[in-house]
Amino acid sequence: MEKITIRGGKPLRGEIEVSGMKNAAVAVILSCLLIEDTCTIENLPDISDVDLCLDILKSMGAKVTRKSRTVAEINCKNAQGGISPYNMVRGMRASYYLIGAELGRYGRAYVGLPGGCDFGTRPIDQHIKGFEALGAKVSVEGGYIDADAGEGLIAAPIYFDGVTVGGTMNLIIAAVRAKGTTVIENAAREPHIVDLANFLNTCGAQITGAGTDVIKIKGVQSLHGCSYAIIPDMIEAGTYMIAAAACGGTVRINGVIPKHLDSVSAKLIEMGVVVEELDESVIVSRTGPLTRVNVKTMPYPGFPTDMNPQMCVLMCLAAGTSYLTESVWESRFRYVDELKRMGANIKVDGKMAIIEGGAPISAAPVKAVDLRAGAAVVIMGLVANGKTVIEDIHHIKRGYDHIVEKLRLLGADIEMINTTDDEGELKQAN
Ligand code: EPZ
Repeated sequence: MEKITIRGGKPLRGEIEVSGMKNAAVAVILSCLLIEDTCTIENLPDISDVDLCLDILKSMGAKVTRKSRTVAEINCKNAQGGISPYNMVRGMRASYYLIGAELGRYGRAYVGLPGGCDFGTRPIDQHIKGFEALGAKVSVEGGYIDADAGEGLIAAPIYFDGVTVGGTMNLIIAAVRAKGTTVIENAAREPHIVDLANFLNTCGAQITGAGTDVIKIKGVQSLHGCSYAIIPDMIEAGTYMIAAAACGGTVRINGVIPKHLDSVSAKLIEMGVVVEELDESVIVSRTGPLTRVNVKTMPYPGFPTDMNPQMCVLMCLAAGTSYLTESVWESRFRYVDELKRMGANIKVDGKMAIIEGGAPISAAPVKAVDLRAGAAVVIMGLVANGKTVIEDIHHIKRGYDHIVEKLRLLGADIEMINTTDDEGELKQAN
């Protein structure tokens, strides 16, 4: 079993390069199903969710060539709908983009229900509401979504009851080849939505307003191939910013879009961290004590929910009482129990975590309970006294490209190890 071991207590110093954004890459890759031509996607993060997306398209008959770990050539000309493997599809949340893509390409979608991190129920009623607005008849049976638009989707106005990133992306994908102009209102504004729209427009789509809460999609008959580079991952960058703030020292993160990190930078500055913004980099340094703070997660441009666990760790290191409110997900505090094993003093009351910062943090055997929770226990291990061992690191590998190598570059004492069994010999992972 692969584990991560960390001997904490060292400051981080040096610079790293951020990778392409996971939540943009998965949508761009699966939307290639709409394009019966070759698309070359660059700056892909080297993570298992990208591998899974490419493998799903391959299993549907697409031609996929990995030019490198960060560049893939995809041609879906011969891909067939309705045959994506159920167990691969349930391996992640982003699989639901196949519904929009199959509806947009074939007028019919038959896709297993998605999986993804466990934040309580993760309904897709808004996606279904959007597909029905475009004329599809949608049913859920036997673990599958079955959507039938007969002669094809017809443009219509869509109003989301609540801001949904996936719903916004999925309906953009579905509407790109629909007849007429679709208007999505109360759309999500995340940078990865803009990235998806830019990719599809590069292939000949006519999408305007992405990044605002009203998005217009003028349907086109067909799309052509293109070359496209994925935007940098603001959540990966934010994770390393918080790691630098937690450990102390000075870290430069290159290849970022600083604007995407405004809410994270603002909170770090509030805590007494120095954040310097350059054109495509941020420099984070901390020498003095951290100040307590209150944070409420919100849809973009608010503080990202995907930075909730990482920020909680930083709050544990700031003397005083901090409040962390999760307003996007029903429940996203499963990771708190793992932090408490390391000495954190946190009380969860509904959607709020009350953090009594300043308690001594010590190493312990812990688990990554989901992707961003895994990043949080890594950061906690970097500051803890002693040797932390982290299990279930497949969650981390879903969304962090070479996290061990990047942290080693910054001077962390961290390793990926393989254990033959719980007590077995530990040997250096390759
Ligand atoms: C995307 O999930 C991301 N995943 C999540 O990141 C991220 O936490 C989330 O957006 C919010 O930013 C991917 O992009 C693959 P939503 P998504 O639809 O699209 C409710 C990570 O760590 N809702 O914006 O599933 C929903 O229950 C992952 O990279 C409905 O009620 O999120 C939630 O409370 C974790 N009905 C809220 O809306 C729907 O039909 C936001 O969900 C859809 C959503």
